[in-house]
Amino acid sequence: MTQTLEPRRRRRQNRRDGQRIKPLNRLIENDLIRKVSPDEYRSKVKRVYGGPKGAFLSTCSMLSLHIPLGERIFRSRKFDLAGARSILDVGSGAGQIAGHLLKYSDPEAQLTCTDLSHQMLRRARRRLAEKSRRTPRFVAADLAHLPFADNSFDCITCGYVLEHLPDPEPGLREMSRVLQPGGRMFLLTTEDNFSGAWTSRLWYCRTYNRGELKRLCEELGLHWAQEIWFTRMHRAFRAGGICVEIVRK
Ligand SMILES: C[S@@+](CC[C@H](N)C(=O)[O-])C[C@H]1O[C@@H](n2cnc3c(N)ncnc32)[C@H](O)[C@@H]1O
Repeated sequence: MTQTLEPRRRRRQNRRDGQRIKPLNRLIENDLIRKVSPDEYRSKVKRVYGGPKGAFLSTCSMLSLHIPLGERIFRSRKFDLAGARSILDVGSGAGQIAGHLLKYSDPEAQLTCTDLSHQMLRRARRRLAEKSRRTPRFVAADLAHLPFADNSFDCITCGYVLEHLPDPEPGLREMSRVLQPGGRMFLLTTEDNFSGAWTSRLWYCRTYNRGELKRLCEELGLHWAQEIWFTRMHRAFRAGGICVEIVRK
């Protein structure tokens, strides 16, 4: 794995990220994440998801088709859960992805759900208890500081969470650390296009340039094995976000 980017280089990289955003998208995007300190931003995220907006998260995911289309990816084995024994779902939210994991992973697989927000973890626990007899482990944790030993998991899922980090590197490093070599990751995040700009406005998150994110992942030993699209229409319109299967080298 490569060494941590020194702060000046990282600042330059963040600026470059920002400059690549198209002017219209830049107007729409919410730039709170770039304006306040990481601690202030984290508190804001906790408040947003802990409050009424977070209470409607699973409804929003249903209306935006994130839940049914996400389910198709696991049902069709585009991202194959077979053989995974120890699965970590980072930023579980209302348990949208965790629900698919309980349904399509092997019955003996252990699932751990994490989230920054205790309130979201409570919502996920309630929602998942109604859907499955299997009980995941719930752990409050920040993606950038995962409280797990190295190589603890053979599979990680992380849906629409990385965009809540001002700098993706600590989060990617943490997931890489707790993922076993050869382990697989399902990463879904907001792209720097028109629909991504609206997501940013709604949820106060940043967006990612696909090429930049891929380069950073590869630098960190996280190989993009395949890019996944929800449907052919999503591929044609570059919609739905950046969705990739990653293999830890
Ligand atoms: C949009 S929801 C995603 C829910 C689910 N993973 C999905 O794919 O629909 C984002 C979740 O990430 C959590 N989150 C935001 N920043 C986080 C961080 N730094 N560490 C862990 N969780 C975080 C939020 O509390 C929220 O529950």
